[in-house]
Amino acid sequence: MRVLVAYATRHGATAGIASRVAAALTAAGQPAEARPVADIKDIGPYDAVVLGGAAYMFHWLKPAMTFARRHREELATRPVWLFSSGPLGTDLVDKDGKNVLEATRPKEFDELTKLLHPRGEQVFFGAYDPDAPPVGAGERLVRHMPAARTALPAGDFRDWSAIDAWAARIAAELGTSEPCGQ
Ligand SMILES: Cc1cc2nc3c(=O)[nH]c(=O)nc-3n(C[C@H](O)[C@H](O)[C@H](O)COP(=O)(O)O)c2cc1C
Repeated sequence: MRVLVAYATRHGATAGIASRVAAALTAAGQPAEARPVADIKDIGPYDAVVLGGAAYMFHWLKPAMTFARRHREELATRPVWLFSSGPLGTDLVDKDGKNVLEATRPKEFDELTKLLHPRGEQVFFGAYDPDAPPVGAGERLVRHMPAARTALPAGDFRDWSAIDAWAARIAAELGTSEPCGQ
């Protein structure tokens, strides 16, 4: 069993989550490697795939979607899990009383559920450094909006124990499934 943890990131927070998932899977006996989606041409060598992306403006990063669509046939024949690195802050419930991790589920997950039939999906809290140079004109613009300061709290809110626990559940599930093609 060899697991690919593929990810799309703008500022590195999602890359960190992907590396942690890969390390936790490997430690649990399921060898895994984290790689950016742009570097992956072929998923043939992998038996299972965890695919993650950061959420920006309610959408999963495009390279993660492009990867999912491009490899949909191979992905559909493998165990797949999805994750999104999204909300900022520590509040589990927003001002409207909604569960933050549910409310920030990327819109693309509905399409991916139909396309890939993932075994699981998870939204994790992300990280944001307002001093890092913005990527793209849209991000530059949003950051200068007065509401951005409240909407985008600065800090690293990644919940490592939630990430480890999720990876442990994947490892346990893979431990009970047959390798691909058998
Ligand atoms: C301009 C901007 C827009 C964002 N929009 C969203 C959003 O719509 N939903 C969400 O959950 N998180 C949003 N975030 C938070 C990011 O998803 C979070 O910072 C993420 O961990 C960044 O991952 P990355 O460093 O891998 O790019 C936004 C962040 C910025 C800077």
